[in-house]
Amino acid sequence: MRGTITRVSNGFQLATRFSGVTTSPVRDILAVLSRGDVISFAGGIPDASLFELADFRAAFDHVLTHQGARALQYAATKGEPELLEQVASRLSRALPTTPDQVQVTSGSQEGIFLVGQVLLDPGDVVLVEQPTYLAAVQAFALAGASLVPVATDDHGVLPEALAAAIAQHHPKFVYLIPTFQNPTGRSMPAGRREAVAEVLLRTGVPLLEDDPYGELRFEGEAAPPLASLPGMSGQTVLLNSASKVMAPGVRIGWLRAEGDILRALEVAKQAVGLQSAVTDQLAVAHYLATCDLDAHIARVVGVYRERRDAMAAGLAGILPAGADITRPEGGMFLWVRLGGGLDTALRLPTALEEGVAYVPGRAFFARDADASTMRLSYVTNPVGTITEGLARLGRAFGW
Ligand SMILES: Cc1ncc(COP(=O)(O)O)c(C=O)c1O
Repeated sequence: MRGTITRVSNGFQLATRFSGVTTSPVRDILAVLSRGDVISFAGGIPDASLFELADFRAAFDHVLTHQGARALQYAATKGEPELLEQVASRLSRALPTTPDQVQVTSGSQEGIFLVGQVLLDPGDVVLVEQPTYLAAVQAFALAGASLVPVATDDHGVLPEALAAAIAQHHPKFVYLIPTFQNPTGRSMPAGRREAVAEVLLRTGVPLLEDDPYGELRFEGEAAPPLASLPGMSGQTVLLNSASKVMAPGVRIGWLRAEGDILRALEVAKQAVGLQSAVTDQLAVAHYLATCDLDAHIARVVGVYRERRDAMAAGLAGILPAGADITRPEGGMFLWVRLGGGLDTALRLPTALEEGVAYVPGRAFFARDADASTMRLSYVTNPVGTITEGLARLGRAFGW
């Protein structure tokens, strides 16, 4: 199912940097999920019934009625001023930010790609968590980078391991998802954040901090982004997105940075797509200006918390001895480690036959994969469906 694209027909020859770049297994699994009776724990797909459809309808209506000519026209690469302002003001809750420190992107995925294009030469090293978000691995690999995993524990990346990897590999930057990480759901507590920032500040290695899930907190104390720790803001590109808190279909994200890198990122963005869709930018800006995003997030968090509880309790009831699961304080994912030399990828066809989908964990490891792991998303399905999906999972694995 997961594929390395090695060759194309009709005389086209793939660039060397494409070798080793794999298709996303999540996307591949989503593609076979057209069968309506499969319960999917695979994608990080927000529950569409929670989208604020009426608010978005009003926002797009407002944009097309009052800003129509502008909305349908070419525009500046940096982003629409209204959106830059809204984003800067929201980011300023944790980290003082001016609109000129913001670049609008088409989802935070584009932000990841742009940073890769701007900073990476073939052969450069990027340090990533073990495991990490696989589409970031894809984007850095496409820029020719070599991905080096750094050991983690339940509190995220280990500062000593990070310092050792920096000394050994001289990375161009470190890519971290400190809050409700994809795929594990883990978060770095405040003390770990400080220790990691201390290593980065001491070594001068820049940070790409990816934070699409931070606002989806069910419990526990909010942890500030690493970018907001003393001395870190200039050394960090912070990525954020409308996808997980509003709607992924608008494809609106943003990055925050300081200094000359902003100009380089803007030029790269120009080369990739000139600008993000103006209609969508203005609609998201209008939504942020006129609707209560915090209230929406609180509603979503209430629903997702209940689903996290249902999945965690259901798994605890069926998993064999020796298996362990994370208990995320927020976000979308739960991470299962079965151990015992099992390969969850080999069970996926059986699981799909039983009518349940998950993502085999090996895809999230830059190297030295623990194949006995899997990522389960609890956000897409209501509690009853989660329970039924877990029963199918139990049958597929013979628990
Ligand atoms: C860690 C992480 N970063 C970035 C993204 C990309 O999100 P988007 O481009 O929709 O903002 C995702 C999506 O799942 C993600 O999990």
